[in-house]
Amino acid sequence: KKNFELLYEGKAKKVYKFDEQKLLIKFKDDVTAFNGLKKDQILNKGKINKKISKFFFEMLNKEGINTHYINDYDENSFVAKWTDLIPLEVIVRNYTAGSFCKRYGVKKGLIFDYPLIEFSLKNDELGDPMITKDAVLLLKVTTEDILDEITSISKKVNDILSDYLKSKGIILVDFKLEFGISKNDNKVTLIDEISPDTCRFWDANTMESLDKDVYREEKGDLLNAYEVLLGRLDI
Ligand code: C5P
Repeated sequence: KKNFELLYEGKAKKVYKFDEQKLLIKFKDDVTAFNGLKKDQILNKGKINKKISKFFFEMLNKEGINTHYINDYDENSFVAKWTDLIPLEVIVRNYTAGSFCKRYGVKKGLIFDYPLIEFSLKNDELGDPMITKDAVLLLKVTTEDILDEITSISKKVNDILSDYLKSKGIILVDFKLEFGISKNDNKVTLIDEISPDTCRFWDANTMESLDKDVYREEKGDLLNAYEVLLGRLDI
């Protein structure tokens, strides 16, 4: 196996240089929660998350969303477009859950009249603080055109994924997206992963979690939940 140069190691992924225009994204078995305070290794989590991310990215590519996914590589990795990361996390919420409930003291599982889009500044030391559109622009994190494009892509991704998952008896509660600008053609590109590590999925009948909340809230076997999700998708 070729020895690729490691460019970056995150909590759940490693990013290698594949060539001048491409990256190799490798999914690790590590799982963390609460900004890294809770940490474990779960055998096979990496390859399941790679499969699920690949599946969603291929679906989005077909629907005309520009994602970084190019092609599969091996069990734990895929080849992606090399992008310059925009240091924002975009959170899309369809139902109340997680930090939203904590912040506003509301119960979980309330449906919103329309999707809520929130931004966080990607900064581990600061604990990824929420940020307003104006603060993003004043701090020159990115431009208004790019922020608007990110917002409209995020809504489209929500529509595509929500509709598909609904047909599989799964509620897309909320999720996080990240974006970059492709080195090759300077386009706003959806990057990172779309997996049960970064989305909340609830079984529409039982309302049970098929995502990382199983680990965060210690309410069962994480791998089992991820496998149930995988089994429901057309993979
Ligand atoms: O914790 P919170 O309720 O704000 O998370 C909203 C959604 O974003 C969840 O699906 C969570 O998995 C995801 N998220 C993430 N990475 C973060 C913060 C949130 O994937 N750093």
